[in-house]
Amino acid sequence: MEKMDWDTLELACRSCTQCGLCATRHNVVFGVGNREAKLLFVGEGPGEQEDLQGIPFVGPAGKLLDDMLSIIDLTREDCYIANIVKCRPPRNRDPQQEEQAMCFPYLDNQIDLLDPKIIVCLGRIAAQKLIAPDFRITSQHGHWLYRQDRWYMAMYHPSALLRDVYKRPETFDDLLSLREKLRELGMRKD
Ligand code: URA
Repeated sequence: MEKMDWDTLELACRSCTQCGLCATRHNVVFGVGNREAKLLFVGEGPGEQEDLQGIPFVGPAGKLLDDMLSIIDLTREDCYIANIVKCRPPRNRDPQQEEQAMCFPYLDNQIDLLDPKIIVCLGRIAAQKLIAPDFRITSQHGHWLYRQDRWYMAMYHPSALLRDVYKRPETFDDLLSLREKLRELGMRKD
């Protein structure tokens, strides 16, 4: 796919019919946040609320993501938020490899336009696509990887934290580590 500017990319994405997910979607969930931000969060794919509203992370997991951001004094205006697939997989199943592959050029183009210094993967699916195919979220969350001029880290997906509160302390540590990295890179003043 040829690289596009934001508006052209968003238009192309919103009318995409490249995989079967387009048949059941209500809205394409392109991404939200600050297009000048150097911090990118990547989730897995839209859930029910996201599909209905066309905005990432607006359901229960999204509320928790907002709380997680606020723990380190971040808001959606300090970052950009996108997903591996832009259309909701039916019944929130994992997006299939082929769906991920068809959709990836949109995220890749978003990454190109943003040129983030930090990419935080939310959950296994995003980490396996962006960090390593064999990424193990339970043992590798919170680890930093520097590759091609940017830093990568994965955290538990907020949905996992809703299901299992015992994962929350580890995520708190990962958030503090993110705050430290932002400081280290001169991306925050405190
Ligand atoms: N889960 C995700 O991975 N992304 C969303 O946008 C919402 C829930």
